[in-house]
Amino acid sequence: MKKLKIMAVFGTRPEAIKMCPVVLEMQKYPDFIEPVVAVTAQHREMLDQVLQLFGIVPDYDLNIMTSGQTLYDVTRRALEGLGEVLAESRPDIVLVHGDTTTTFAGALAAFYAQIKVAHVEAGLRTGDKYSPFPEEMNRKLTASLADFHFAPTLTSRNNLLKENIEPGSIFVTGNTVIDALIKTITPSWQFEDAALREVISSNDRLILVTTHRRENLGAPMRHVYQALREVLAAYGNVSIIFPVHKNPKVREIVEQELGRLDRVHLIEPLDYQPFANLMAKVDIVLTDSGGIQEEAPALGKPVLVLRDTTERPEAVAAGTVKLIGTGYEDVLRETGRLLEDDAYYRRMADACNPYGDGRAAERIIKILLAASGYPIIAPKEFAPVI
Ligand code: UD1
Ligand code: UDP
Repeated sequence: MKKLKIMAVFGTRPEAIKMCPVVLEMQKYPDFIEPVVAVTAQHREMLDQVLQLFGIVPDYDLNIMTSGQTLYDVTRRALEGLGEVLAESRPDIVLVHGDTTTTFAGALAAFYAQIKVAHVEAGLRTGDKYSPFPEEMNRKLTASLADFHFAPTLTSRNNLLKENIEPGSIFVTGNTVIDALIKTITPSWQFEDAALREVISSNDRLILVTTHRRENLGAPMRHVYQALREVLAAYGNVSIIFPVHKNPKVREIVEQELGRLDRVHLIEPLDYQPFANLMAKVDIVLTDSGGIQEEAPALGKPVLVLRDTTERPEAVAAGTVKLIGTGYEDVLRETGRLLEDDAYYRRMADACNPYGDGRAAERIIKILLAASGYPIIAPKEFAPVI
């Protein structure tokens, strides 16, 4: 039987974390699948950290990242580069993930080459085309190009149905982020960094912070960091751990507002394994990240989301995640409430995991094989335990 050639295309840290489990799953079917990995390297170091962890060596690496890259730069370089890769490799199916510019360029390049597109983590929506920007439109445009839509949850499936996506092409699989998390969390994890070890073993309550969203660059980020300074001034036994995104526009404001402060640990982006294990150890997470909104609830950590909208409403409904925006007063009040009100903290810290059961990648690959005529039984869809 001719092998099904499936090309996974990704380029940034979160896509890599969520797509590597799918690549590893493809490798389990050497008789049926010829896996190909093409990375744009829209991110460089932050992508390589993940590839190394999962032991994946790309077949194609476009190496497109430049400092200060614009959306036009990333789109143009990814589209042109992937066009050439597709012409040479001619896969049967191109797998893209999520909502980055690599995702959209990958789907568009495959469409131009008349190759089927399978979209992993499909159907998340805020309904606001500028928030998150440009991710909401990247995800929507990718949906209109895709032949297979792997929706992580029922909510995301319903979003796709509202856009008249053919129901038979949508499959609820759970999110592969939970596959990755399960493979990665190690209760006895030892942190290499001595300063990190020291702060984790101190009696301080720990706040983990990450920020990177384009729409938060500038004043919104500055207000968040100023509020965090005030939190430290108001609460003596609190420390902040902040792995700072590589984007120089983020780094500049972080350094200005939080540099050289006691009890603020500004560190380089952590590899995924230490990062996930760090999340399991902290008390509160403040973030504008998408993936962390999915991971932290599964680890029973209250998350304050530094955004006005979210395309991940499930953990908000469950009460583990709260949208607080980026206003100085809001960040100060909401963080203070979690630090002061134990009963409130415990209610928010009730672990919930509406996002997956660790078998999303298995479902995705079985569905693709079954739909392509291979002797594999299509799996049951993911249903969260409520
Ligand atoms: C991108 C995605 C965003 C995703 C985020 C995850 C788009 C438009 N944005 O945003 O959806 O949530 O990644 O982190 O697709 N840089 C490095 N080394 C790295 C990574 C980034 O130096 O390993 C610096 C470079 O200067 C680069 C800048 O960060 O120009 C911004 O990277 P870019 O991918 O354009 O935007 P992100 O904000 O990372
Ligand atoms: N992450 C990591 N190291 C860090 C910070 C985050 O490995 O120092 C992981 C995190 O666990 C999650 C992913 O990166 O899986 C989220 O990436 P990011 O916030 O950059 O992007 P988003 O999810 O918002 O698209």
